[in-house]
Amino acid sequence: MTDDRPRQLGRTPPMGWNSWNAFSCDVTEADIRTAADALVDTGLREAGYEYIVVDDCWMATETDSEGRLLPSADFPNGMAALADYVHERGLKFGLYTSAGTKTCQGYPASLGRERLHAEQFAEWGIDYLKYDNCGDHRGRDAIDRYAAMGDALESVDREIVYSICEWGENRPWKWGRNVGGHLWRATDDLVAKWRADPDEFGLGIADALDRMADIDAGAAHGPGGWNDPDMLQIGNGPQSGQSEHEPVDVQRPLTKAERRTHFAFWCLLAAPLMIGTDLTSLSRFDRELLTNERLLAIDQDPLGIQGTPDRRDSDAEVWSKRLADGGAAVAFHNRGDAERDISTHVSAVDVAGGTGRYRVCDCWTGNEWDTGGSLAMTADPRDTAIVRVTPC
Ligand code: GAL
Repeated sequence: MTDDRPRQLGRTPPMGWNSWNAFSCDVTEADIRTAADALVDTGLREAGYEYIVVDDCWMATETDSEGRLLPSADFPNGMAALADYVHERGLKFGLYTSAGTKTCQGYPASLGRERLHAEQFAEWGIDYLKYDNCGDHRGRDAIDRYAAMGDALESVDREIVYSICEWGENRPWKWGRNVGGHLWRATDDLVAKWRADPDEFGLGIADALDRMADIDAGAAHGPGGWNDPDMLQIGNGPQSGQSEHEPVDVQRPLTKAERRTHFAFWCLLAAPLMIGTDLTSLSRFDRELLTNERLLAIDQDPLGIQGTPDRRDSDAEVWSKRLADGGAAVAFHNRGDAERDISTHVSAVDVAGGTGRYRVCDCWTGNEWDTGGSLAMTADPRDTAIVRVTPC
């Protein structure tokens, strides 16, 4: 167990792009190069998105004779060359494997070969490892399996962000830091819809918010270690987030209001921001959403506090998050079917008191005004108004 390492990595929630939702098991080297270029061209790198992570299915079906992972034929130039390509664009490079005998799509994985694989990753120039929970666990519990890779990453001569993908099954917020993790999935896979039926695969945006409100995982969350409610589904259509083995009939992608709520809440939760869509077809609305500087400042606030609900009743929700400047981000979320006014007061959210006067900034419009304490916003159905409140 490695709970005493200096935590230089992940001081703010990691930001980047992951291949899974957009390319699933069909991902190729060309897709990754294109994504790296697109992250630069769209201005997303400039906004702070820096990791390009190749998810499942990059590896060949067989290892070498000593158990090393080999890239598949879809990565003809190998992972070191791809890491170089990503690094040359001022970005960082990540790979995926699993804490079992196989990945979720049945490729060779890392249980029992942690040191060997961590050495490979370091040699290739990897900066981020997503470590999944599929395959045979050989009777070993989650903490033991995730600690083995944490120790292996600690032993190599390269700084590698360790992203634990255990789906929140064994409350990884209790032990993720102690096994060297910089982020840990707190939820099942997120899919591009508002709500998932209970017997469907994955969680919708509203389901994930309910879960984040319920699990009380905020205590472990902060600089160096983050609860992860999964990749951003902004830009994704009905089938994204699914593998060919898990068909699901989703009626429609997220509306603009739902996408705004999704992004506002991931920032309010100080969640890792890993984009999950094909960047070559990003709409203007989605690009502007993902690069909203006021929201990104809330996500990346140095205090690193996870926002929590102050009020969840009658379809009106108020959530807030304390910020390093003594102010707070306050979200007004409408769960209902009709536009509604939602109000609260600075005394009911976590704002440093004393001055009696507060500056309010609407994170969507940039409009600013002063208040003596009352806060009232209007939100469309399933939409979220979000403001930054600062003591004057
Ligand atoms: C799931 C994981 C997804 C994705 C997928 C790949 O277990 O939660 O984010 O990595 O495996 O097969």
